Amino acid sequence: MMDPRCDQTEAWAALAGHFEAHGRDFDIREAFARDPGRFASMGVEAPEVFADLSKNRIDTATMHFLLDLAKECRIEARRDAMLRGDPINTTEGRAVLHTALRAARGKGPFSDDVHGVLDAMLSYVESVRDTAVSGIRHIVNIGIGGSDLGPQMVVPALDAFAHPGLTLHFVSNVDGHDIVPVLRRLDPAQTLFIIASKTFTTQETMANAHAAKAWFEASGGTDIAKHFCATTTNVAAAAAFGITTTFGFWDWVGGRYSLWSAIGLPIALAIGADNFRALLAGAHAMDAHFATAPAAKNLPMLLGLIDVWYRNFHGFTSRCMAPYHQGLKRLPAYLQQLEMESNGKRVDLDGAPLPFATSPVVWGEPGTNGQHAYFQMLHQGTDVIPVEFILVRRATHAIGGDLHAPLLEQLERQHAMLLANGLAQAQALMQGKSTADAAAEKAPTASKTLDPAVLAKHRTFPGNRPSTTLVLDQLTPRSLGALIALYEHRVFVSGALWGINSFDQWGVELGKALCNDLLPRLASGDTAGLDASTAGLMQRLRP
Ligand code: F6P
Repeated sequence: MMDPRCDQTEAWAALAGHFEAHGRDFDIREAFARDPGRFASMGVEAPEVFADLSKNRIDTATMHFLLDLAKECRIEARRDAMLRGDPINTTEGRAVLHTALRAARGKGPFSDDVHGVLDAMLSYVESVRDTAVSGIRHIVNIGIGGSDLGPQMVVPALDAFAHPGLTLHFVSNVDGHDIVPVLRRLDPAQTLFIIASKTFTTQETMANAHAAKAWFEASGGTDIAKHFCATTTNVAAAAAFGITTTFGFWDWVGGRYSLWSAIGLPIALAIGADNFRALLAGAHAMDAHFATAPAAKNLPMLLGLIDVWYRNFHGFTSRCMAPYHQGLKRLPAYLQQLEMESNGKRVDLDGAPLPFATSPVVWGEPGTNGQHAYFQMLHQGTDVIPVEFILVRRATHAIGGDLHAPLLEQLERQHAMLLANGLAQAQALMQGKSTADAAAEKAPTASKTLDPAVLAKHRTFPGNRPSTTLVLDQLTPRSLGALIALYEHRVFVSGALWGINSFDQWGVELGKALCNDLLPRLASGDTAGLDASTAGLMQRLRP
């Protein structure tokens, strides 16, 4: 028997009424005018992360109804079930225990297993990082999806903390154009390949692993045991591939939640054992906040509730991620898998089709680059797209001590520009610009012949476009760990409200099976039984 689904609650009906009465036409600017304390009352402190929720289309009444919804849907009890290891991934009969990976020794479930692998992995990490002895200069992570996106996101984010003598590469695509440019830059004697795959069966990863092995042997590489290692739950398959150094994890770690496990090996190689432990500790601090903070002050809870408010009542179809930190350039891609693979579902836990929308599209780019690309649409397009800004108060340029003072001063000025840009975009989205104000302004680049009244309409911004701003003091292993865990739990909250299984991914299976059928047909030319489009395209694509 399922816990109540969001739409089966009294709070849902109350929210629908509240939306019609106050939500549809809610104006954030008017809310600030009515309530000067809005910033103070809608700021939430969580470990390492401050969130300003005040530029959202919500007020105390909205939050009251949303918190009622969380209560009726028993979100706290469901959270507790996840944290204690109940098999909440019902379609695979598995527990969901990525939080156990960052619990202190002796504290979480499976602690001996978790810390046994962690200790072994981090001792291996330190031996490889001793480059004078190991001779390793390049590390190539071969994996895809959850076995790629987490490390690929975290490594550049923590570049300030990285080993200066090691270069990390990430190969994921079965397209050889991914691995070839990497291999061209490598010397087998200085290279360590990590074959990262939870299942050790994924087509793309296995193909690239074979390509790497073939290149290694053809380029004079001799010691596979030293130059290849694996991170997997399928230790036997790694051994069959010829890999003897393997770091395992368990079926209760979902692929997209696995960067805290052995899948984090490239991260640990880049930033070292102590920093990897700090990443885990930051995530654990967020876990503790999620587990204990009252709902009204619980940041993952509040963000998940606002996500549902926007998706199901306002009907917003996407969320734009705008991290104002170049190191977070892969965060949107990472969050796409985290949120869309978790919550892109159309039936509830009982298999009943859902009468409401689930996962939004998550997309974005770091600021300020996005401003010069698609922010036009955010400001003046016909769709309202909530934006999530991530602003980091202090830069990390000085860490490492290798930059001279005048450059550091220039970079400080650039950091101020970065922050001012982020603040300005959130302000502009909310504030907008009236037609009257646009008409009163000078517009030096505008046409001199166009009717000024028409021009003013083009230069009008509707405003009232919502955003959330997350503030970090500095991007460190600890704060990044907390930030990622915040997103994981927020996805849990919206998924639990929707009554879906956020921890399976059956939607990826059909394409895989059809690919297995088409692959031999590409060679043989057999189109029997195929639809006309696939058959026609296949004929064009055959060698
Ligand atoms: O394509 C879906 C998926 O199963 C993801 O969920 C997973 O992260 C990815 O493939 C890679 O899987 P593996 O780690 O088993 O190679």
